[in-house]
Amino acid sequence: MFKSFAIGIAFLCCGFCVNAQNIAWEQVASGVWKGTVGRPESYNLLTASGAKPYLAGLNTMSSPEFPMQQKQVLAQFKDGKTYLSFPLQKEEQLFGFGLNFQTVHQRGKILELHVDHFGGKDNGRTHAPTPFYVSSAGYGVFINSARYLKVYAGTGVKRDSENAPIAKDRNTDKSWASRPYSDAVEFLVPAEGVEFYVFAGPTPLEAVSRYNLFNGGGPLPPRWGLGFTQRVKTLFTAEDVEKEAATFTEKGFPLDFIGLEPGWQSKAYPCSFEWDKGRFPDPAGFVASMLKKGIRLNLWTNPYVSPEAPIYKEIKPFTADHTVWLGAIPDLSMPEAQQLLFGQLKKSQVDIGVSGYKFDEVDGYDHYLWPDVTTFPSGKSAEQMRQTYGLLTQRWSSELFHERNQRTYGLVRGSNGGGTSFPYVIYNDYYNHEDFITALINSSFAGVLWTPEVRASKTGEEWLRRMQSVVFSPMAMINAWSSGTKPWSYPEVEQQVKDMAVLRMKMMPYWYSEFAKYHFKGIPPFRAMNLEQGFNSGLQKEVKNTNLEENPYVDAVTKEVKDQYMAGEYLLVAPMFAGKTTRTVILPRGKWFDFYTGDFVGDGTVITVTPGLDRIPVYVKDGGIIPMGPALMQAPKAKDKLDLEIRYYGYQPGSYQLYDDDGESFDYEKGAYIFREIKVEHGKDGKLKTAISAAVKGKPNTLNKISFKAMTRIKN
Ligand code: GAL
Repeated sequence: MFKSFAIGIAFLCCGFCVNAQNIAWEQVASGVWKGTVGRPESYNLLTASGAKPYLAGLNTMSSPEFPMQQKQVLAQFKDGKTYLSFPLQKEEQLFGFGLNFQTVHQRGKILELHVDHFGGKDNGRTHAPTPFYVSSAGYGVFINSARYLKVYAGTGVKRDSENAPIAKDRNTDKSWASRPYSDAVEFLVPAEGVEFYVFAGPTPLEAVSRYNLFNGGGPLPPRWGLGFTQRVKTLFTAEDVEKEAATFTEKGFPLDFIGLEPGWQSKAYPCSFEWDKGRFPDPAGFVASMLKKGIRLNLWTNPYVSPEAPIYKEIKPFTADHTVWLGAIPDLSMPEAQQLLFGQLKKSQVDIGVSGYKFDEVDGYDHYLWPDVTTFPSGKSAEQMRQTYGLLTQRWSSELFHERNQRTYGLVRGSNGGGTSFPYVIYNDYYNHEDFITALINSSFAGVLWTPEVRASKTGEEWLRRMQSVVFSPMAMINAWSSGTKPWSYPEVEQQVKDMAVLRMKMMPYWYSEFAKYHFKGIPPFRAMNLEQGFNSGLQKEVKNTNLEENPYVDAVTKEVKDQYMAGEYLLVAPMFAGKTTRTVILPRGKWFDFYTGDFVGDGTVITVTPGLDRIPVYVKDGGIIPMGPALMQAPKAKDKLDLEIRYYGYQPGSYQLYDDDGESFDYEKGAYIFREIKVEHGKDGKLKTAISAAVKGKPNTLNKISFKAMTRIKN
C-alpha cells in the first residue's frame, strides 16, 4: 500500500560534506515513515523486542503529510559511524529521549542514551533511554539502534546552516550567547548505517500514540494488576505471607497481589530460580492457598544464574564470559538460554499459579553489571546486550503467560524503545518524591510505565503524600522489601491511606478503560501536560531564568511543568509533597472542575490551592465522565457483574468509551471485548440526559446496575 522511494541529499553539499548519504524513505503505516541509511545492523531495538505494529490501530488515525522538510533530514558516515541530523525550528520544544527524572524539556541537552540505573542526573543514562523524541510542533523521531547513542538535542550550529545565527562580538554586544541557536537534533550512531522512523502528529499526543501503536500498543493489564499490591520484606516465609494477607483483610485494606522479594529462592543473588525449601516447604500448596484468597503472587528475581541453580550446567554454554555477582549471564538473545531460564520459571513457578515477576538489575550500575568488554556466545556485543537486556527479559517472560492465555502485570528495572507493549512497570531504588512524579510525566514520552512506589517515610505526612501519588499511577504499590512497612504503618494517617486505597479500587472501571485506550489507541494513561491540547497556549514564556545550565535554550523555553500530570482522558493530578500545604496548578484552556466536589475551579489559568492533608488536587475537564465501581477489596473476577456509577462533571455534553472484557485472558485479541459509549448532558428540564450503548450478545458484559450522578450543580 505504501511506496518506497529514495531521495538524494539535496542540501548544499559543496565539498565539505564528502560523506553525505542517501536516505531511503518508505511509508510503513499511516503517518509513519522509515528512513534507512547505509547498512543497518540486523540486531536492533525492534528485533530484540519483537515489537509488531498494531496496524488496525494505526490505520484508524489520520494520514498526514511527512511532518518536516524531508530533504533537511541528513546522514553522513565517518569513522565507521553514522551521523544523523533532523531539522529543528526556532519555536520548538523537545520531549522524550527516555525516562528522565528531573527535566521535561530536552532542547539544548547533550545526552548519551545508555541503559542504566538513574544516577541523579538526566544525562541519558536511565532505566529506559528510549531513543525517541517528540516535538511541540507535533511529530516524533525514533532511532532504532541497540547502541549507546549520543544526542545533541539542538546544540550544534553548522557553518552553512540556512538559519545560522549571526556571530556576535562579545566585547561590545551584550546579547552575545555562549550557546547560540541551533537548528538541528543530531545523533551519533556507532554503526555503519541505521534505520529510523518519523511519526506524524499533527499533535504531539498523536505522534506519541503513533509511536506506541507502531510498537504494538500499550499493554492491557489484568484487572487485578490495577488493584493494590504489597511487596513483603526479604526472607519472609510462606507463613509470614499468609499472615500479612490476613492482616490486610482484618484491617479492611484492599489487596490484589503480593510481591515476594529475595528469600523465596534457595539462592539469591545470583539466583537459583527454585523455591527455598525451608521458607516455602510446599510451594504449590502455598500458591494455591493464596489464590483461594484471591491473592496473586509476583516474584522478585534477577536473571543471573547461581552455580548452584539446577539449570546452571545446561545454560552455561549460552552465557557470557563475565559474571554478575558471580552468577552466569544468560545470552537471552539465544533460544537455548531463553528456553532454559524461562522454562525453569515456568516449571517451578508459573505452572503452579504464580502470576508474574519483578525483573531486577537488568538496567545497570556499571559496577554490578557486565563490562563493555564482555563477550556473549551469540556474538552480540556487551553494549548491544546492555541496551536490550530489559527488553529480552520482558519479551520472553510475557510470552510465558501469553502461551497460557493468562495476562500478567509485573515490574522491571530496564527497558528501551520497542518495549511499549510489555506488561511491565519500571521502578528503581531512587526515592525523591518530586523526581518520581517527573519520571511519571516523562514515561509518556518513552513508551513505558513507571510507578512512584512507596517504601518508607520520615513522617506520617510524607507517607500519606506518597500514597496519594501512587494510587494515581500505573501500579499502586508499597515496596517494603527492606522497611517492612504496611499501609497502616503510620497510625496518624491510617484512615486517609485507606481512603486512598479504596478510591483506587472504586476507580477501577476508569483505570481499566484508560489502559484499553493505551492498548487500542496508543494514548498513554499517565502523561505530561505538554501532551494536553490547550496547555501550552496559556503559558508565559520563561524569560527570567537565564541560567544556561538549567535552561539551555532560553528562546524556545516556556516554563517547564514537572509536578502535575494527566491521568486518563479527563483527570489532572497535582501531587502534594511533604512539608508543603499550598501549591499552584496550571489549568489548561477549558473549564475544570474539582474531582471530589464537582465545583468549578478555573479555565486556562494558574490557581493556588490548599487542599488539606486528606486529598491531593485532582481536577476534571468540562464534560468529563468518570465511571466508578464499588469499594471492592479485590479487583472483580472474570464472571463478576458489578454496579457502575457514572460521574459527570461540568456543563458541556460529555462522552466516554467504557471498555469491558473478561479482565484476565487474551481473548480480547480475538475480538472478545467491547467499548460501550456513554453520553451525558444536562437536559433543559434540569434533569440529566443519559445514554449508554447496549450490551452486545456474545460480547463480555460485567455491568449490573448503572446509575448516573451529576457532580456539578448548574446554577440557575
Ligand atoms: C533492589 C530493588 C529493590 C528490591 C531489592 C531486593 O535491586 O531495586 O526494589 O527488590 O533489590 O534486594
